[in-house]
Amino acid sequence: MKKIVINGGHPLKGEVAVSGAKNSVVALIPAIILAEDVVILDGVPAISDVDSLIDIMELMGAKVEREGETLAIDPRGVQDVPMPYGKINSLRASYYFYGSLLARFGQAVVGLPGGCDLGPRPIDLHLKAFEAMGAKVSYQGESMRLATDGNPLKGTHIYMDTVSVGATINTMIAASRAQGRTVIENAAREPEIIDVATLLNNMGAHIRGAGTDIITIEGVERLHGTRHQVIPDRIEAGTYIAMAAAIGEGVKVSNVLYEHLESFISKLEEMGVRMTVEEDSIFVEKQDQLKSVSIKTSPYPGFATDLQQPITPLLLRTQGRGNIRDTIYEKRVNHVAELARMGAKISVLSGQIVYEAPNSLSGAPVKATDLRAGAALVIAGLMAEGRTEITNVEFILRGYSNIIEKLTELGADIQLIED
Ligand code: UD1
Repeated sequence: MKKIVINGGHPLKGEVAVSGAKNSVVALIPAIILAEDVVILDGVPAISDVDSLIDIMELMGAKVEREGETLAIDPRGVQDVPMPYGKINSLRASYYFYGSLLARFGQAVVGLPGGCDLGPRPIDLHLKAFEAMGAKVSYQGESMRLATDGNPLKGTHIYMDTVSVGATINTMIAASRAQGRTVIENAAREPEIIDVATLLNNMGAHIRGAGTDIITIEGVERLHGTRHQVIPDRIEAGTYIAMAAAIGEGVKVSNVLYEHLESFISKLEEMGVRMTVEEDSIFVEKQDQLKSVSIKTSPYPGFATDLQQPITPLLLRTQGRGNIRDTIYEKRVNHVAELARMGAKISVLSGQIVYEAPNSLSGAPVKATDLRAGAALVIAGLMAEGRTEITNVEFILRGYSNIIEKLTELGADIQLIED
């Protein structure tokens, strides 16, 4: 068991560089199974989700070399072996193996995906899309089997009942090697979808419209090797920007694509956060009084559900009241009770988070119950007076690359301790 110990109250100053996007790379790695040669990814973050995916790829027979932020994957030796529950259950994005294995082998036996507990996280849309392309779904204990019974996957028209990042990407991966044309309507528009489409296209796929709500994929027979730069992680960027506004005395957050963060930045502007946007960085000044705001999350380009938790500690140092309504994951409120333990006037009422600010936070023992709740607790710990001990930090390390090193460099008193 690991824990993070923070002695709060030290202002942050300097520069922090954002790593490659977690939600891209967790799809890019499984998609590489479809290539018939080596694929190299640059800008791969040092997060435990990537470690788990590499383990899974190696178990399946891929050759993987990792040096710094570069990952070279040779998928030619990948075998169609059942992927059991254990490893697969450690991350949500293991559902991308359904799409890639199905497209390469015509079948996939994969344990049910795990990941953060944000309330119900069904995968019915993924399965409906695979079924529409001709796959049959059956259950084998804690695994699911998808199979086309020797027939190729067939391109088709798919309307997504709900806008889903995972289902859009998974359908795109499977359809890239299906027979004929697939059209995804009501597709999600997140930047990570464009990133995965770019990789697949550079591998020889024909995908048009990624980043809009209609994506068209003309299936091809073969995909080849390529080299690809992972886009910057907009959620990590937003986390550091919120942190800099909460406790910074001049912090430059670099390797940022501003256009991926527009709704987040405009919310900060509404609060009165002073920032300077440069070509690929955002400089956050030391803040005086900030205004309270209310937040409603929605699919991209709306305010990201993944940034709802990391922005919460910043709301606690504004003046006034406000609320957060997460329309994507209504039960994504695990950080609230932990922040209340640290002295925050915050609670959940009728499915919304309500807060009253300003609050002075005090260090306390708290538990990271999921990845972004963990990020919220790190920020709160940095803001609080005294010592905060965060347990369950494995969640945080799943998605924040070198977080201890990056924060130490900015002047935080933070340590990762192995119990
Ligand atoms: C991805 C992100 C996650 C982010 C979420 C929403 C990855 C690995 N994770 O998760 O960080 O919080 O997008 O931006 O990229 N839904 C269904 N049926 C399905 C699939 C989804 O009803 O088959 C619902 C979900 O319960 C949720 C909504 O659709 O209410 C959006 O979920 P989705 O975009 O699919 O989330 P993930 O791809 O799992």
